[in-house]
Amino acid sequence: MEQKKTGFAIIGTGAIARHHARSIQELESSELLAVCSRSPERAAEAEDRFGVKAYSDMEEMLNRPDIEVVAICTESGYHLEPALAAARAGKHVLIEKPIEVTLERTDEIIAACRSAGVKLGVIFQNRFTPGYLRLREAVQKDLLGRLIMGNAYIKWFRHPEYYSSSQWKGTIKGDGGAALINQGIHTIDLLLDIMPEVESVYGQVKTVLHDIEGEDLGLAMLNFIGGAMGTIEGGTSLYPGYPERLEVYGEKGSVILEGGEIKQWNIQGEEELPKKEKAAEKSGSADPMAISHQLHLAQIKDMVEAVQENREPLVNGETARKSLALILAVYQSSKENKPVSLR
Ligand SMILES: NC(=O)c1ccc[n+]([C@@H]2O[C@H](COP(=O)([O-])OP(=O)(O)OC[C@H]3O[C@@H](n4cnc5c(N)ncnc54)[C@H](O)[C@@H]3O)[C@@H](O)[C@H]2O)c1
Repeated sequence: MEQKKTGFAIIGTGAIARHHARSIQELESSELLAVCSRSPERAAEAEDRFGVKAYSDMEEMLNRPDIEVVAICTESGYHLEPALAAARAGKHVLIEKPIEVTLERTDEIIAACRSAGVKLGVIFQNRFTPGYLRLREAVQKDLLGRLIMGNAYIKWFRHPEYYSSSQWKGTIKGDGGAALINQGIHTIDLLLDIMPEVESVYGQVKTVLHDIEGEDLGLAMLNFIGGAMGTIEGGTSLYPGYPERLEVYGEKGSVILEGGEIKQWNIQGEEELPKKEKAAEKSGSADPMAISHQLHLAQIKDMVEAVQENREPLVNGETARKSLALILAVYQSSKENKPVSLR
């Protein structure tokens, strides 16, 4: 029997859209039917680039009944409007991280998708590295025992041109901040997926190197429910940029991931390092587009299966809201110079 192909459209045809397009086109279970750009000129250019029909009128594209899922690849602070339009049109929604830049806008998206009865998935592709999946399985099987500490280190670097050449990166309206909400959020999402819920956070953010509104350096200390502690150290000012690290310590041992790869696996009674299934993907520590599309492919496959099997995607709106809520609490803590409760 021929494999059912779920029809996709992409809104926003900038940098990350090409990872979506390539993944959708490579998967046997999905097909790219259309893309949407902001102007007729850009749509004509996108039609050539993506090899599918391109629209400059979003509503016209969303009227097509063969489009089942809409991938939102617009700037972070511009996810809301296309997401609402897609949900209104009865399309499932797959949004790039962060889900949006404020909790109010995020909650509007979640509510609109829930009331329209459509799926809402949010891209956090690092959930799919073999190293992370091994760590998650170990925690789920309780191999580390009670968790004691979790650390997310995202010591990255961006050249000044990364910000100066963009209309939205590092701005409050378009990016919601900078280093933590745009870059750090990937590893912060993993930390929150592994550790218990956060009870409170004390953080400080600064802009030390770049000429931007948002932060390029940030530290935070976390208290998790049940007593575990954690830290976040992130930045885009830390030359030359090192692969991000996730460290997890439990009462029976610890695991350290670097760039998605297991660097340390020291669990009492489970000393053998799990077999490496596949080389880890390149980190975006110094170059945002150094990442390959393979992890996007894995997550888009999960979204297609969620639609075809009528289940929740691995990362849904409610899950994606957590990393945003924590980062916004770090910003608030920094502004007020006191801990912020998340309960
Ligand atoms: N998962 C990852 O690793 C990863 C990597 C890079 C970017 N991202 C995320 O992807 C999103 C986009 O980032 P980017 O670097 O591709 O940005 P970009 O600026 O290259 O592209 C965004 C595009 O969206 C277009 N756009 C905005 N509103 C639109 C609308 N209503 N209709 C049609 N087009 C519209 C803009 O004109 C622009 O071309 C951001 O949320 C970012 O955080 C994720």
